[in-house]
Amino acid sequence: MRPPPRTAFGFLLLLLLPPAPDAARKLTPCQQCRALVDKFNQGMANTAKKNFGGGNTAWEEKTLSKYEFSEIRLLEILEGLCESSDFECNQMVEQQEERLEAWWLQLKKKYPDLFEWFCVQTLKVCCSPGTYGPDCSACQGGSKRPCSGNGHCNGDGSRQGDGSCQCHIGYQGPLCKDCVSSYFSSLRNETHNICTACDESCKTCSGPTNRDCLECEEGWARVEDTCLDVDECAAETPPCSETQYCENVNGSYTCEECDSTCVGCTGKGPAKCKQCVSGYSKEDGQCAGQ
Ligand SMILES: *[C@@H]1O[C@H](CO)[C@@H](O)[C@H](O)[C@H]1NC(C)=O
Ligand SMILES: *[C@@H]1O[C@H](CO)[C@@H](O)[C@H](O)[C@H]1NC(C)=O
Repeated sequence: MRPPPRTAFGFLLLLLLPPAPDAARKLTPCQQCRALVDKFNQGMANTAKKNFGGGNTAWEEKTLSKYEFSEIRLLEILEGLCESSDFECNQMVEQQEERLEAWWLQLKKKYPDLFEWFCVQTLKVCCSPGTYGPDCSACQGGSKRPCSGNGHCNGDGSRQGDGSCQCHIGYQGPLCKDCVSSYFSSLRNETHNICTACDESCKTCSGPTNRDCLECEEGWARVEDTCLDVDECAAETPPCSETQYCENVNGSYTCEECDSTCVGCTGKGPAKCKQCVSGYSKEDGQCAGQ
C-alpha cells in the first residue's frame, strides 16, 4: 500500500535548520502517539457514515460493511493523520503504517482500544491511565484512583515520572488523603476524603462557618464561640499616620491618604477633614479655597 504523502521538503528543512531552541514544545513519544491515535479515532468517526446513501437495501448494506473494514477507508484515515508540514508525525506514520494496517485488518476486534494496543502494548511509549514509568507501575494510591482522587500522579499514562502525587489545592500527604490546615474534612469514609476551605475568619476549623473555628485567623478574635473581625481602626493608638485615615476590612485594615485640603482626617474627601490646610476653611462642612 502507498505511504501517505511524504515531506521531502520537511526533511530538507530538518537538515538545514538547527534543532528547535525550545525543546519544551517538542512532544514526547507518548504525546506523539496519543495525538496520532486521537487523529486516527477522529478519522474513523469522520468516515463512519461514508458511502451510506440513506437507503437500506441489501446491496447498500453489503457495500457499507465492505467499506467499513476496507483498505480504502484506512487510507482515507491515514491521509488525515498528519499536517503535511509535521515531519515527525509523517515519519511516525511511515514507520508504523504496517502495524496500523495489521490492527485495522486483523486485530481491531480483539483490541478495540487503539491507544492501549498501539501506544501502550506495541510501541511501549505510553502507559495505561493510573500507571507510570518504564514498566508502567501503579501510581501512588493505586492505578484505579491514583492519589486518592485528590491529586495528579507524576508521569501518569507515560513511560516517565516517579508515580508520586502532586496534591490538588487543600490536600496533602503522600496519597493526598489529608487536608491542609485552613481546610476541613467535609466528607470522610474509608476510601474518600473531601477537603473544603474554612471560613476566612478561621486559621483552623472543623466546619464551614465562623462558629466552627478551632483557632481564629490573624485579624480576627473570638467573641463567645465565634471568630469576629477585629476593628484595628478603633484601637486606642490608631495604626495610620496623621495624614491618613484608617479603613477597617475583614481580617485587616488599610491606611489611605487624606484629601489634599485636609490637615488630618477621619475619612475620604474634603468633608472628612479634621482641619483645613492654610488658605482653606470649612464651608458647609467641607474645606474650600478662599
Ligand atoms: C465514600 O464516599 C464516596 C463519595 O461520596 C462514595 O462514592 C463511596 O462509595 C464511599 N465509600 C464507602 C466505603 O462508603
Ligand atoms: C466579612 O466577614 C463576614 C463574617 O465572616 C462575612 O459575612 C462578610 O461577607 C465579610 N465581608 C467581606 C467584604 O468579605
